Amino acid sequence: MSGTSIDSVDAALVDCSAGKFQLLSVHSEAFSAPLQRGIIELCSAGPNEIERMGLVDRQLGILFVSAVERLLAAAGVQREAVTAIGSHGQTIRHRPPDSTRTAIDSFSCQIGDPNTIAENTGITTVADFRRRDIAAGGQGAPLVPLFHRASFAEAGVKRAIVNIGGMANVSTLDGSESMTGYDTGPGNILLDGWIGLHRQLKCDIDGAWAAQGRPIAAVLERLLAHPFFALPPPKSTGREDFNLHWLQELLAQLPQQAPADVQASLLELTARSISAAVIDADEVYICGGGAHNKHLVQRLQALLHPRRVDSTGALGIGPDWVEASAFAWLAQQCLQGRPGNDAGVTGAAGPRVLGAIYHA
Ligand SMILES: Nc1ncnc2c1ncn2[C@@H]1O[C@H](COP(=O)(O)OP(=O)(O)OP(=O)(O)O)[C@@H](O)[C@H]1O
Ligand SMILES: [Mg+2]
Repeated sequence: MSGTSIDSVDAALVDCSAGKFQLLSVHSEAFSAPLQRGIIELCSAGPNEIERMGLVDRQLGILFVSAVERLLAAAGVQREAVTAIGSHGQTIRHRPPDSTRTAIDSFSCQIGDPNTIAENTGITTVADFRRRDIAAGGQGAPLVPLFHRASFAEAGVKRAIVNIGGMANVSTLDGSESMTGYDTGPGNILLDGWIGLHRQLKCDIDGAWAAQGRPIAAVLERLLAHPFFALPPPKSTGREDFNLHWLQELLAQLPQQAPADVQASLLELTARSISAAVIDADEVYICGGGAHNKHLVQRLQALLHPRRVDSTGALGIGPDWVEASAFAWLAQQCLQGRPGNDAGVTGAAGPRVLGAIYHA
């Protein structure tokens, strides 16, 4: 799994045999600086895209192979013991149906060549999870809610699972078949971008810089005026909607602000857009890198008081490994011919088996 933050490749070894789900081992693989740059450059329009995409697709596939090899070596597990790899790949463009784009004009593109993964690991690989849902008229996202339901739901308890990655998505569960799930907007992406611009740091550790500033009401109001927030679900988003360029254009129309106050406003944007989506839940569990942002978690706790706000670690899967675990589970769904989407969540015409199989 490599998400919109493009921070690292997360690999999880899980046992999902016979109704159980157990996280056995984990590994995080770093990107080389040129590869990371190559991916970021593919996330927006530029010259010679096909050539660059072809190369990055293969290089990412090779990096995914290395992630698998190191994961298995650290766990002392032979490749013959592994049924399959589920590879989400790296999203470089996500254009789901919305008010401006019809279903036939929609697409979502993930790279990280699964042929390379299957060939070099000798393990059957399942990839390309999103495009079948898009083909069925869905958003192709979020795909984690079914896994959240399978792993975290409890009868009679209104529970929300919040993934705060580059973007944020929520699932609400009550132990029945019914559920909701959608992207709420930016998670960490703008926080990372703004601190990178002003302090040359990859992220605002613990939200410490944001905590030094104060949210600016006028900035927050403009940020929240982004049309994505007013859209009803099903909805999903990406770097196409929320990026540094958009933020800088928006700020240029307002009086000059202290950078720390802008960071505080961005953190408040993430906190408010998430809390509005989970206000009906009794318990809220957070995963994704944002679970480590102490100031963000404190703001969520304050906005959601008196609800319980905790990490998914309290439910048995550490916050850094829920997404990667979900794609292992989704690979199993594919191999067993079971749906990977919830049509109510993605807006697809119906449940669909997601993913293409690349045999060992
Ligand atoms: N200690 C920390 N303090 C603040 N932010 C953190 C901390 N640790 C991680 N993060 C944030 O988490 C981000 C990475 O989160 P994660 O890997 O869940 O996102 P992702 O790769 O975009 O995933 P996805 O899109 O699949 O949800 C980092 O870019 C950073 O912003
Ligand atoms: Mg990540």
